[in-house]
Amino acid sequence: MNRKPTGWERTMGWGAGDLSRKSFLTGLTGAAALGIPRYAPGGQVVPTLSLLPFLARPTTESMLVNVRNGPVDATARLEIKASLGPTVWGAAGADRSAPAGEFVNWNVGDLAAGTAYDYRVLMAASGEDLLSVATGRFTTQRVGEVAFTAALTADPHTGSFPDGSGPIRVLDDVVRNVQRDRPDFVIALGDNVAWATSRDYPQVDDFGARFAYTMYRRHLAPLSVSCPHFGLIGNWEGESGKVPAENAALVANVRRQFAPNPDHLTYPQGGSANEDYYAFDWGPALFVVLNVQSYSAPSGPRSSPMDDVALMEDWTLGGAQFSWLEGVLAASDHPFKFVCIHHPVGGNAGTQFETLYGRGGPRAATVGEQRLVHEMMREFGVQIFFFGHDHVFLDEVVDGIHYALPGSCGAPWKFGREVTGYQRYWPESGHGRLTVRPDLATVEFVNQAGWVIHQFAVEPA
Ligand SMILES: [Fe+2]
Repeated sequence: MNRKPTGWERTMGWGAGDLSRKSFLTGLTGAAALGIPRYAPGGQVVPTLSLLPFLARPTTESMLVNVRNGPVDATARLEIKASLGPTVWGAAGADRSAPAGEFVNWNVGDLAAGTAYDYRVLMAASGEDLLSVATGRFTTQRVGEVAFTAALTADPHTGSFPDGSGPIRVLDDVVRNVQRDRPDFVIALGDNVAWATSRDYPQVDDFGARFAYTMYRRHLAPLSVSCPHFGLIGNWEGESGKVPAENAALVANVRRQFAPNPDHLTYPQGGSANEDYYAFDWGPALFVVLNVQSYSAPSGPRSSPMDDVALMEDWTLGGAQFSWLEGVLAASDHPFKFVCIHHPVGGNAGTQFETLYGRGGPRAATVGEQRLVHEMMREFGVQIFFFGHDHVFLDEVVDGIHYALPGSCGAPWKFGREVTGYQRYWPESGHGRLTVRPDLATVEFVNQAGWVIHQFAVEPA
């Protein structure tokens, strides 16, 4: 935007060089999105990121900042400062070589817990001065009896729909709504990406995954620069246990590059080295993030991961994840415990087909392996079971546990009663806003227009 800001833009705090409202709403467009180098007033080439910062693995003392360089070989530096206090930028390590098109990851350390930081990414082409190409802020992992806000999103199916389409506008609106909440982090409940063959066929190359994750990163960018992301594996992520391991691994490699998650070493709670299940605490709450897809094994010779769900017992967390879950919950003395998963480890929906597809949320509390998960949640005092997959807002209590589905943020299919079996639900798009205080945790369902359409609260154990 190389023009003088209008009065209205100045009122909104936007000046020349900032994002236009249009670019904010539709993801980052123009030179930044295309990765085209721009030129500084002095005439030097300023390298551009093809993917803006994506924050992940927030701990009490560190944060992962992931960017992807544009088409110019460059030198990159990340600088950081505490948001409060003197403006003294410090470099997070030595300057890095950033070859064209390559990812750069900074694992920024030596931070203080529960503290807000500003950061900036500086880049330079060969022989030029470093210039800022991206900025953001974050808060490190909070400890103890403190309050915070987090966000839950589900099912954008990014990669299935072209830019400018209705589903993409939904995603952009929800990203903007979540960003307004200034959450400490977002948990994306799965089917975050999807492409034509990702559900029903083993992937033989990583083209579809790269396309979908690139699009996800671009549309998430207004949020991801200042909000750490925790992702889940849904049935469209291309990582079903019903495809050969090498095909799932091909896609998992792309996911770990574009949307890194915690691994087994990030938090004391551990998890999987493949970054597909993990647990962490934030203030008084424990979050356990599960993977219902990748450890469910084939039950027969059928070719499609979807058709292959011939028995309810096919849905399983697998022995390792199941006993890990039990260990994490048993060891937790957190006042709040939340479990997140793409869909229950079973199903009980409007038809036999949909039941086998894992639909029905709370209706599946006594079905298949979900019965064991549900019993475990009762025993260890889990208050909320967050899930996605069914694309509507739902809140139902089973044995004191809220089964909460925070809508969807892009999937255009709003499944009705005949599919899900739900009696009360909200067929709108939107997200879940989770506000935790030491004495109460509140979940608000926020629709695409930004209105709260339902809320509930749970008390600490
Ligand atoms: Fe799904």
